[in-house]
Order: sequence, then structure tokens, then C-alpha cells
Amino acid sequence: MPTRKKIGLIGAGNIGGELARLCAAKELGDVWLFDIPTKENFAKGKALDLEQNAAVVGYDSTVRGTSNWADLEGADVLIITAGIPRKPGQSRDDLVAINLPIIRNVANNAKQFCPNAFAIVISNPLDAMVYEYKRVLGCAREKVAGMAGVLDSARFQLFLAREAGVSVKDVRAMVLGGHGDDMVPVLSMTTIHGIGVQNLIGKDKLDAIIDRTRKGGGEIVNLMGTSAYYAPASSAVSMAEAFLLDQKRLLACAAYLDGEYGYSDLFMGVPVIVGGKGIEKIITIPLTEEERVMLAKSAKSVQAVVDVVKKN
Ligand code: APR
Repeated sequence: MPTRKKIGLIGAGNIGGELARLCAAKELGDVWLFDIPTKENFAKGKALDLEQNAAVVGYDSTVRGTSNWADLEGADVLIITAGIPRKPGQSRDDLVAINLPIIRNVANNAKQFCPNAFAIVISNPLDAMVYEYKRVLGCAREKVAGMAGVLDSARFQLFLAREAGVSVKDVRAMVLGGHGDDMVPVLSMTTIHGIGVQNLIGKDKLDAIIDRTRKGGGEIVNLMGTSAYYAPASSAVSMAEAFLLDQKRLLACAAYLDGEYGYSDLFMGVPVIVGGKGIEKIITIPLTEEERVMLAKSAKSVQAVVDVVKKN
């Protein structure tokens, strides 16, 4: 019997490849890089490249490519990037019609082959795709999370660090709400090593940083012609690592809300504790009136896309 954890990466594209590299290099488990049959050789080629990389870098995790769901049988973690990324001028919500049948296909197969895996969804529009994944799987809310908050918070932290002239390591910030243009950077909880950020950065600069954070994904799409992959992959791996190593990390993740923050039957970015049981706890933090209003606006946008999903 294998004793290493089994990690299934669904989608062997830009994010999938970087996910595989990180999971293997950190020796989080043995990796299966899955893609559709017409991309199977591509997935196998990436996997072989990463196995050869192991001999240089020095890791013992295996990386294999496949288009056969049976290879994912019993996976401990699934990270799902299956779908089409944005092109310049597109919003994440524009992807719903294309990516909805894809996430349904993935969820139906996951239900059959690895229903107990902790699933981290990255495909966009994130909050709607993770909702649909859980609905099809019918799994407990502990076992499925959307990756957005870690990435959006990282973008916010970087811009704050650059503006304040401090290390990114000293900035603590969380971005909550939906993974869209009205995401909610929680300024009241943003600190530079405990010092409230408003003490160090002026309002005009903060407003500009919040705006850049909200459009952070689009800025990269406009530059590259496709969406980001290094930071998204690192963000999802931090969630997978928290689960596999039972780290009890407090991270901003899209979680299924059942009354928390006043919302139900909706996935949205909130602070959660990720450990060996998956999403172990949703943390409720006090928000200012302004932040509550922003969260309500963001929830409305998420609900609109979920309503499209429900109708189709
Ligand atoms: N099952 C598995 N893989 C699939 C499926 C499917 N049903 N349908 C498509 N894919 C694969 C594609 O063949 C492709 O290799 O998903 C992969 C996606 O890779 P990229 O096109 O490189 O996209 P990437 O940048 O990795 O982004 C993937 O994450 O951030 C989001 O908006 C982004 O929805 C997009 C997703």
C-alpha cells in the first residue's frame, strides 16, 4: 500500500503545471496531472519533465500524467483548474457558460473516483464553480474550498508593502467576499506588523491600492493575454499544505456559508481555519459598516452568477 498522499491536479495547463512543480518540490505527495484525452500526452510530457527535474532538485514525489479518472481513485486532495482562462477584455463571469459543463464533468467524476478528497477549486468564475462542484458532489462543506482569498490578499499585501517600503513578510491583510471586481479588502484588519495600515499609508494611496487589487487579475490578463499562474498555484498549494500537514492555518478561502456573515447557500471568501479535516472553522470577524456594505455588494454579484448556474 502506498503511504504517500495522493494529489490529483485536474487541468494540466499553466496553473496545473506550476501546481505539480510545487507539490512535488515540497514532497506533499505523489502527483497525478490530469487533462482531457486530447491533452493526455501534453500532461504526460509535463509530468515527465517534472520527474526529470526531481533528479536535479532532489525530490522523491512521483509526477504522472493521465486522462483516465481511474488513476485518481482515492486521491486525498484534488486541485481543480479545468476550464478556460480569461482573455483580455473578459470578466471572470464571462467564462460561466464555457466552464460550467467542465466543472460538472469534473465533479461527477470526482464523485465516482475520489469523493472523500479535499477539493480546492480554482476555475473561474470561482465562487459559482465551487458552488456547483459542491452541489454535484453533495459533500460536506468541510471538504471543498475555493481558492481566491489567499491570492487576492497576496496581491493586496504586495502593493501595500511596495508603497510602505517594507517587506511583504510584515504585511498582514485579508481580502474577503467574491473573487470579482467588488471583492472586499478588510482595511480595518490590515496591519504592518500590528500597526494599522492607515497610520503608514495615506487614504488616496490606499484607495488606489484597493482599486489595483480588485483589478489585479485583469492587469495580468492584459499584459500576458491569459491569466496568472504562479501566484494562483502557490496560493492553492498553501491551502493543500495546510490540509495535508494539519497546519490549522487561518486563510481567506471561499467557503460554503450557512448563516455566517448573514449569508446562506453561497460560497464567498471568509477567514477560515484549514487543517486535517479541511475547512475546520469559519471565523467571524467584526467588520465596519463600510465593509459590511461592500460585502453585501460583493455577495449580490456572486449570487447573480450562482443564479445563472442554477438556471442552466
Ligand atoms: N477535465 C480536465 N481538464 C480540462 C477539462 C476537463 N473536463 N476541460 C478543460 N481542461 C483543461 C484544458 O485542456 C487545459 O489544459 O484545463 C486546462 C486549463 O489550463 P489553461 O488553459 O492553461 O488555464 P489556466 O491558466 O491553468 O487556468 C485554469 O483557472 O484561474 C482559473 O480563470 C482560470 O478558469 C481558469 C482556470
